[in-house]
This record gives sequence, structure tokens and C-alpha cells, in this order.
Amino acid sequence: MKIPSPSRGGSGWGWGYLRMKNIALVGFMGSGKTAVGKVLAERLGYKFIDTDEIIERSEGKTISALFNEEGEQRFREIEARIVRELFGLKRHVISTGGGIVTNKENISNLKKGGLIVWLKAAPETIYNRVSSKTHRPLLNVEDPLETIKKLLTFREPFYAEADVSVDTDGLDVEKIVEVIIKAYDKMSEVRSQK
Ligand code: S3P
Repeated sequence: MKIPSPSRGGSGWGWGYLRMKNIALVGFMGSGKTAVGKVLAERLGYKFIDTDEIIERSEGKTISALFNEEGEQRFREIEARIVRELFGLKRHVISTGGGIVTNKENISNLKKGGLIVWLKAAPETIYNRVSSKTHRPLLNVEDPLETIKKLLTFREPFYAEADVSVDTDGLDVEKIVEVIIKAYDKMSEVRSQK
């Protein structure tokens, strides 16, 4: 697990303000953002939201239909708009689509809104989790494992922009939630010790 030092963007506010803000979960498809996010929100008494769900509701169609009918670029525009609209939310756990980090504006907006946590997982773990599902257009390909490896390599530097990273391989949802809450508490305490 990676936990950074308390100074953040030179604001001088440390991490204590975190308890007022949100936790955004980022990570590859199948890294457990939704499952972890729901339990995390319950434990913290926060609300849970999912950017893909918001997109589907606002567009009145599934992500797959959106990709098929309007293309990935259009999906990314809507995704960025949704992230902008999250501004002002407090005490929410936000589960995000796996590609959200590839737009720097999204990372910056999610950081302004609170803490970004990256759920890391190995390609094989991801493959095992997603192989029985068909709702992810980017993985409806001939060789999903190869696609996962390539996309993951490309995206890793973007995910690494997160404030905290958690290695999820071999951990169940409860354990991952526990690790995140510990990191969150630790970072939030920094301010009160100042
Ligand atoms: C995507 C991940 C999906 C969804 C869309 C694109 C991606 O979300 O946003 O299919 O680019 O990695 P999940 O990570 O929740 O599967």
C-alpha cells in the first residue's frame, strides 16, 4: 500500500480536511471498485455512487449501447462532464469507470473532490473476474487477456496519479475496505496532530 506525505498541492491544509470530502476509487475493469465501494461507503456512513451508472441513467442506455451507437469518444466526453458535475459533493464514495484516469482533467477534478484510491490487480486476476461477463465493450475481443495486459501497461502511469494504492490480489472485499479505511484514518489524523 502506498500512502503519501500530508502536503497536497502546496495548499498547506494537510490531509485533515479529508473527512469532509469524497473517496474516488480508480482501477482497471474488474478491480473491484463497485463491490469495494459499496461496502466502504456503508462502513464510513458515506453515500455510494458509480460514474457508469450515472452515465447510463443520464443517457438512457447501457454503456455497451453507448459505445456501439455513439463510440468511445462520445462516452469519454460524457464521463468527463459527469466528473465535473460531481463538484461540491461531500462524503461520497465514487466508483469510477476503468478508463476515467486517462483524461488528466478527470484526475484533477477527482483530486479536488477528495482522495483517489487505486485498486491494483494483476492482469490474470482481472481476467478471472471479467471473463464470465459481457457488459464491457473494450473486453469483448478475441484475446481479452492480451488486451487487458496492453491496456493495463498503457494506463498504469495514469492510475499511479492516485493518492493511495492498494494491492488487491488475494484480498477479499472486507480486507480491502479495512486497508482503505486505515489509510484514510491515518491521513485524516495528520491534520488534527498539527
Ligand atoms: C471502461 C471501464 C468500464 C466502463 C467502460 C469503459 C474502461 O467500467 O466505464 O466500459 O475504459 O476501462 P468498469 O471499470 O467499472 O468496468
